[in-house]
Parts: sequence; structure tokens; C-alpha cells
Amino acid sequence: MNKRKTAAYPFAAVFALFMAGSIIYALESARPTDAQIEQRVKDTLAKMTLDEKLAQTAGKEPAYKYARMLTNMGDETWDGPEIKKLNVPAFYMIDGPRGVGLQKTTAFTVGMSRGASWDKDLEYRIGEAMGYETRALGANVLLEPCINILRHPLWGRAQETYGEDPYLLGVMGVANIQGVQKHAMACAKHYAANNTEDNRMSVDVQMDERTLREIYLPHFKMTVDAGVASVMSSYNLFRGDKAGQNKHLSTEILKDEWGFKGFVVSDWVTATTDGIRAANGGMDVEMPEGTHLGMSLKKTIEEGKVPMSRLDDMVARILREKFRFIPDNYTAGYDKKKVAGSEHTALAREAAQKGSVLLKNDNNALPIDKTKVKTIAVFGKLANTKNIGDMGSSDVHPPYVIKPLEGIRNKAGGSVNINYVEGMDPAAAKSADASIVFVGLTWKDEGEGNDRNSLDLHKEDIDLINAACEASSRCIVVIEAGSAILMDSWKDKPEAILMAWYPGMEGGNALADIIFGDVNPSGKLPITFPKSADQLPPFMNKDKEAKMDYYHGYRLFDKKGLESTYPFGYGLSYTTYKYSNLKLDKKSIGKSGKITASVDVTNTGKVAGEEVVQLYVGYKGSKVDRPVKDLKAFAKVALKPGETRTVTLEVKAENLAYWDKDKNGWVVEEIDYIVFVGPSSAQKDLISDSFKISGQ
Ligand code: BGC
Repeated sequence: MNKRKTAAYPFAAVFALFMAGSIIYALESARPTDAQIEQRVKDTLAKMTLDEKLAQTAGKEPAYKYARMLTNMGDETWDGPEIKKLNVPAFYMIDGPRGVGLQKTTAFTVGMSRGASWDKDLEYRIGEAMGYETRALGANVLLEPCINILRHPLWGRAQETYGEDPYLLGVMGVANIQGVQKHAMACAKHYAANNTEDNRMSVDVQMDERTLREIYLPHFKMTVDAGVASVMSSYNLFRGDKAGQNKHLSTEILKDEWGFKGFVVSDWVTATTDGIRAANGGMDVEMPEGTHLGMSLKKTIEEGKVPMSRLDDMVARILREKFRFIPDNYTAGYDKKKVAGSEHTALAREAAQKGSVLLKNDNNALPIDKTKVKTIAVFGKLANTKNIGDMGSSDVHPPYVIKPLEGIRNKAGGSVNINYVEGMDPAAAKSADASIVFVGLTWKDEGEGNDRNSLDLHKEDIDLINAACEASSRCIVVIEAGSAILMDSWKDKPEAILMAWYPGMEGGNALADIIFGDVNPSGKLPITFPKSADQLPPFMNKDKEAKMDYYHGYRLFDKKGLESTYPFGYGLSYTTYKYSNLKLDKKSIGKSGKITASVDVTNTGKVAGEEVVQLYVGYKGSKVDRPVKDLKAFAKVALKPGETRTVTLEVKAENLAYWDKDKNGWVVEEIDYIVFVGPSSAQKDLISDSFKISGQ
């Protein structure tokens, strides 16, 4: 890693910045071509000894180091060996989904919140910032994005992923990867069907092929198409074997069918149980050390139980990505000062603003006009807690965290009296012009290895909401948590509810921006908020075998006609929008065609805002059981008051196919399709038109 000097004079600083920019630009444009990489891989492989090849296929973390890192995450990277004489660089891997897991980096809002932004350009910029920090700190594989389907909101790692829908996960995951991979390797994880924590190492997930292809894999395919360098196999078993050792998943689908050229890295420690099955199944790198792969594979290779051609393929995949992403002068031009510097922390603030979802806002309780209020009462321990999420592998160690209370105080300035009460004081609520109650979960309730016990808030939080809202004429509840919370027992009490997720190091400022109206919230739920637990599929986090059905989330609610508390895609704004004039460019397309929908969206309120325009497709007369509708496109559009914009959204016919188990392939049906467009997945919010697919 190279240390850079700070320029002492403005001119020198500008020159240094210009030079750094030029060097990075030069590095990007100087990336070797695919042909050059393949030649180098071939030449290098030809010179490698058996031991050198074997060593490449595993991390080199001795057990003691691993134990230390588990208790002290954030100090070191996870490393794989280099070969100096052949100019093969080492792996320096680092987590993870909400920022780079080293010291003093930018802590972004969690993945679920970024899913709620529905803003792929923002996610690209976040990826780019994380990739930059990864590289500036000398690491070269960023162990994210996490793109597991949120099948059930009790999943402990819900916060790390982008939501419940494969298409939304794919779009956001691709945006993130494209940003990260401007600088370093990304890693789509955890492949596949990893949806519980408590039994994550031992559960055997079963599902039929159609469910796998249509619900649990499309987003991984999208990241492969986008050129992701690595895919991390999950801890769970899939149809009887560890996912990374499962040939169907890791070789037949990922590599043979999708053409994945990068490497499959195991999840840590127990994701590999058998060297022969792992290597022959499709795993390429075992982390954090070679218990089954690496040198442990030597005898097996010598005995021919794993063919030499497979070892060569493993090594070729590793070398290919190392040569693609790690030039000799890897950190040259990268400035450590940009790590958690003003540009990235401003981005963290923007991300938290855009990921927050306004769930309720009766009587325009929000925003608070600070020129019109004298006292605001703030309640709840979380108002004064640095609550940025899980402390497992996704933990990030930013130089500071703005707590909500701090953000509110900073923004309110001297003219408004902020009266903070950790517990409850009805008199404080009564005498204030508005009460803001902070409730929710922390890393103690949910995280890696730890599923949630309940979909409810803690009893103290519910008591706090009831008491504060009883006494207050303007009661606002802000929730911090990684996924859905049951609200029906108390949601009539407050005037406003804001879902903040875990909003990152700038969360307090971002929430204050929304509360005082400097920012108009534009987030929409990337998951369904149910009314009760019995509306959801079984969670199965204690089971040895978990059979996952096709339906979960809005598809399940649609199918069963269930009413949610807040539907997928839902979120309010300080303004209102009107949808009109839905048009399809064609009435009929062939199986290789595409349809373009256009819709006029008007800002009918008084403030500027951003609206997430969603497009779902339904199927009329399908031969097989299909969801009422699937999300197939979306766009985020900025509108001034009174402004109308025509938003266009495209859907390819091939993306409307179902997986036919008899043909063992995708089938695009020649039937009628209904296009639904609107501000959420709630049927009442959607306007529709239809078209037909027939012929080629
Ligand atoms: C997690 C991964 C993480 C890895 C390395 C594992 O326990 O499941 O998501 O990347 O540790 O920290």
C-alpha cells in the first residue's frame, strides 16, 4: 500500500487531485483486453508447479488469526497467497454490504434501505465509493453485494439485502457491482437460497426447479451477465449438499448455462465439507483457509479423484480475475483521504435520505416547520444511540456516527427547544408542539447468525408510542430495523411513521433533513409489511430440511388476496403524484420482441419530489399457475410542483417466460399479458393495459 503526502498549498492540492484523477482514468482505460488476460493466464498456468496451483485455491489464514478476526472484525483483510516470481498477486478480501469493513471507512445505510431507494444510479455511486475505499486501503475483493431474497422478515441478515423481489435485487445488485468493479472485484453472495440464520450451516433447502429458476436465481444471473468477478457460495445445503459443492448450482447453472467466467468462493469455514465434492461441484476457492481445498486437495489430485483439468480451471478462474483487476501499481493514484472523506459521507447522507420510507403522514404531521414550533420532545433510547446495524461480517467502523438526536439538534438550531427524554414523560409530550418517538431494533435483535425472535417491536417501544402519542397532538414515530415490523396494534396512534432502517453514519443528519422538510422522502418499501405473522410463509429457521415454496412477499399476498399493513412498493411523499395516459407502443409482439410502456406522471402537490414508477406484468390464460403480477421494470423520476413527465419503461418478451419442468427450459407463452403501472404494488394504485405475444 502506498502512503500519499497531502499537498500543502491550494494549487498543489488541485494539481494532486488532477493527477490522481488522471492516474485512475489511465488505469481504467489501460485495463488489459480479454485476449491479453487469457494469454497471460495460459502462460502463467504453464509455469506453475502443482503446489503453486493448489495454494491459489484457498485462503491462507491460520486458525488463530481467524479466531482473532471473529472477535475483532475490521482490522484486517482475509488473504490468499501471491506468487512473486510469476507476478501473481495475493487476494485481500474484505466485507461487506454497507461499507468497507476496515477502520474509519464510510458506513452507508444498509442494503435494505438502499433497496428502498429504488435508485440504481445512487447504488452505482455507492458501489463506486465502496470500491474506491476498498482499493485505497489496499484490499482487492469486496465481499458484497448480498442479494439473497428476503423470504421472511425474521431473517437476521435482512438488512444486508435489497428486498423480496428478484428483479429489484438484480437491478440494485448490478448497479452496485458496476460501481465497485471500477476499482476492485465484487462478490455476489450468498449463492443460493440462504434465507435463515439460526440453522444456516446445517439446513438442507429443498425447492422445485421452477421456484429456483424464477424466484431464487434470476438476480444472480443478472450479476453474472454484468461481469461480476466472484460469487460466494452459501453455508446452507441445497438438495442434500453444501450449495458450493452442489454441481447443479455451481457448475451446470452458474458456469455452463450462464457462462460465468469468474471464481466461486466458499462462505467462511463450514461452507466446504468435502474437497472432492467441492472441487468437482464447482467451488474454486475455499476461505478462509484450505481445510478441504488448497494443499488439502493434493492427495486427491494425485489419485485422480479430482481431474487436473478441473484444478487448472479453478486456477485459471482465479488468475483471470486477479489479472483483470489487480495491476502492478494497484493503489497508485488512490487517495486514502477520500476514505470517509466529505464526498463519501455526503453520499452516505444522500443514501439515508433516499432510502427512508414515509409510511403514514396524517394532517401533514411531517415535515416540521421550524419557524413555527417552539418545542419538540424527542423520546426513545434509539434517538441517542449509534445504531448502524449488525455487528457481524457487515459491520463497518466509521470515524463518527451522527445519532438522530444530534441531527435534530444540529438542524433545529437555536430557535427550537429540543427536549430529549429517554423513557416516557407525558408532560413533556403534552407541552411540546410535536413529539418524535424513536423505536426499533439493534444488532442484539437481528444480525449474522441471529434471526429475529419476533415481528413486533419490543414491549417498551410499544408502550412508549402509546403513551407519547396519547399525550401529544402531533406524534411522529421513527423506526430503525432491518425489515418489516408488525404495526397494526399501534399504528393508528401516531400521525406520522417514518421507516429509517439502519441509516448509517450520516443517519441522524439525513433523518433531520426529512423531518424538517429540507428533503422530501422518496423511498418505497422493497418488502411487504404484513398485518400478522400467519400471513407469511413458514420461517423454518430451526428445521433440518426447509422446503421453500414458490410464493412469498407480494406474490403470496396477491395470490391469496391478503391485505398487508403496507404493500411492497409503497411509500408516501410530501407531495402527491397522478398517473395518466398509460400507452403501450404495440398491441402484439413476437417472442423475441419487447414492449415499451409510457405513462405521464404529474407532481400534483406543492413541493418538488422524486417518484418511483413501477411496472408489473400479469398473465392471462397461462397454462401454468403464475403470480397475479411480477415486477418487471421501474424508474425513479424527479418532478417539480405541477410538472408532468412521460416515463418510459421497457419489458422484453423473454423476461416474461416461465420455467417449464418438462422441457427443462424457459417458455415464452403466446397469451395476453396485462401491464400494470403505478406508485406501489397495491392493485388499487395501478392502471393497466394489455398486449399479446404471438409468433417469433
Ligand atoms: C459471512 C459472509 C462474509 C464472510 C467473511 C461469513 O460468515 O456469511 O457474508 O463475507 O463471513 O467475513
